Amino acid sequence: MSARRTSIHGSWSSRLAFVLAATGSAVGLGNIWKFPYIAGEHGGGAFVLVYLVCIAIIGIPIMMAEVMLGRRGRQSPINTMRTLAQEAGADPRWSWLGWAGVAGGFLILSYYSVIAGWALAYVFRAGSGMFTGVTADGVASIFNALVTDPERLLAWHTIFMVMTMIVVARGVRSGLEQAVRYMVPALFVILILLNGYALAEGSYDLGLRFLFDADFSKIDANGILIAMGHAFFTLSLGMGAIMVYGSYLPEHASIARTSITISVLDTLVALLAGMAIFPIVFANGLEPGAGPGLIFQTLPIAFGHMTGGALFGTLFFVLLVFAAWTSAISLIEPAVAWLVENRGMTRVHASVLAGVVTWVFGLLTVFSFNLWADFKPMAWLEVFRDATLFDLLDYLTANIMLPLGGLFIALFAAWVMKRDDSLEELDMGDGPAYRLWRFLVRYVTPVAVLIVFLNVTGLVDFGHLLGAG
Ligand code: PFF
Repeated sequence: MSARRTSIHGSWSSRLAFVLAATGSAVGLGNIWKFPYIAGEHGGGAFVLVYLVCIAIIGIPIMMAEVMLGRRGRQSPINTMRTLAQEAGADPRWSWLGWAGVAGGFLILSYYSVIAGWALAYVFRAGSGMFTGVTADGVASIFNALVTDPERLLAWHTIFMVMTMIVVARGVRSGLEQAVRYMVPALFVILILLNGYALAEGSYDLGLRFLFDADFSKIDANGILIAMGHAFFTLSLGMGAIMVYGSYLPEHASIARTSITISVLDTLVALLAGMAIFPIVFANGLEPGAGPGLIFQTLPIAFGHMTGGALFGTLFFVLLVFAAWTSAISLIEPAVAWLVENRGMTRVHASVLAGVVTWVFGLLTVFSFNLWADFKPMAWLEVFRDATLFDLLDYLTANIMLPLGGLFIALFAAWVMKRDDSLEELDMGDGPAYRLWRFLVRYVTPVAVLIVFLNVTGLVDFGHLLGAG
């Protein structure tokens, strides 16, 4: 038994508190805003299948690895990686993995906050009855009026960043730990209600077929990368968010059971969101590949036509804001923990500093939808022909930084860390479950991530190897 470390930042009150916080981190805009629109852009069913496979064989094992490393290191990811590398007799420069995560967190939060701002704006639009009886065209113009106005976007982005800073400054335990307890069940209820509407009024058949009929001719190498990147994004993996939450986890909580619970909840929320949205898309002649505005242009139609729609619509966007909020705090927690540990800052100073840096980066996204909408910095590459700065930021973080981070986390947990140490920390016995986990992080994750990368860069034509189109 090694001497157990303790975290200077305190710890969750219980295993349940950790599950709530980590679920709060996982369930966010990724599930409700991003999953439907990227599934729509990449043809539906085949994309969803690749995503589900990635959750099962990459996501869950990596989540276990991150929680395990966090709980063993009990510090910010940067210091945890250094400490654990030293413990294993490896190079302390493994701490760079923590730095990469901090950078990824800033970049993700910079655009995440702008989109969360849209959700905030929609709370008021729904509440004032603006969606009552609205048509597809009507809601499109409401959406366009919002995103093409830089001042409004900036104001909402600022409000959301301030909300995030306040909670991070206070520490997670007092505020959000409680909120998630009610938020996730409430979100389920509203999503089920929306499914009821979609079933009654939408083209439910078409919607479900779009989402679940796997037609592999509709997905290409880039689509596969995006599905894999999304598995990391939606579970908050590959950048230290779950690692830092793991560092506050009480000693005797089962890491495997916890990780599976979080992943299943997260996946259910995404699927329910997709099942509500696509039937409405098809019934109203909308475009499944409409892009980031998809839910903001479809769900108001549902709310605008159902009894009590103004109330449910408001509630839905409030919950969406909460979901985004509980994710946002986990995006800067690794940086804040490091500032407190290594720079001796108070949590308040650290949160303000991290928040302001993120806010400034957020301007890139704010302007991507209006002043700089025609600025396509990488148009010379076919995949990025239409990509704005926001699209590039999203692509770089979700599809490159997170999978790479995940790859290195897997390599560390399975090849660098001593087997006895992971066995002790996971505390599930040396049986088939532990061996399966180790096999997955040792071989499956690294090989899968590499194949997908090579496939996209055109070095290996995976589809061709499989004999597909
Ligand atoms: N998992 C969050 C979502 O699906 O909205 C986004 C996210 C949070 C990504 C934290 C990465 C992260 F570290």
